[in-house]
Amino acid sequence: MTAIELVQGDITRQSVDAIVNAANSSLLGGGGVDGAIHRRGGPAILDDCRKLRASHYGKGLPTGQAVATTAGELDAQWVIHTVGPVFSRSQDRSELLASCYRESLRVADELGARTVAFPAVSAGIYGWPMEDAARIAVETVRAAQTSVEEVRFVLFDERAYEAFARQG
Ligand code: AR6
Repeated sequence: MTAIELVQGDITRQSVDAIVNAANSSLLGGGGVDGAIHRRGGPAILDDCRKLRASHYGKGLPTGQAVATTAGELDAQWVIHTVGPVFSRSQDRSELLASCYRESLRVADELGARTVAFPAVSAGIYGWPMEDAARIAVETVRAAQTSVEEVRFVLFDERAYEAFARQG
């Protein structure tokens, strides 16, 4: 059984085995969680990302997939980068958002990570309504087959925290 914890705060301040980054396909940084992780984690993370682009992901990391790098100066062993879908009213991309959580946990299992912190993927710059993003996140983690012992959702503000707390 994977324990689910909710914390309101900054994901870059967490002490866990792996911190999940809400990245973009380029893996070369951005705003939101991505910017914060690269700022606090230092240049080693970007170095690893560049190597991944040069080796496996010439066209970038596809939406819904996940890949790990060093965590640099963060208090974690790994950063797992995943690319959430941009929210669309005309197209249901929920499966891609669920895939971010499943694939991140699959990578965590490969690494042997026992504790994993997630942000609310896609619920910021990518525009996913928070309530629905929270439902997909919690349902997907609950249903996942994983050896991860603790999933910690780290929510930046009270509104996000409350949306996750409502998922029971
Ligand atoms: N700790 C925890 N949560 C945070 C933090 C933090 N330090 N900073 C922001 N959030 P976002 P996305 C919350 O925009 O929607 C980047 O440019 C934020 O309030 O980081 O998947 C990437 O490079 C929101 O609730 O990710 C991509 O281009 C949630 O984290 C794009 O943004 C996710 O917001 C990805 O957009």
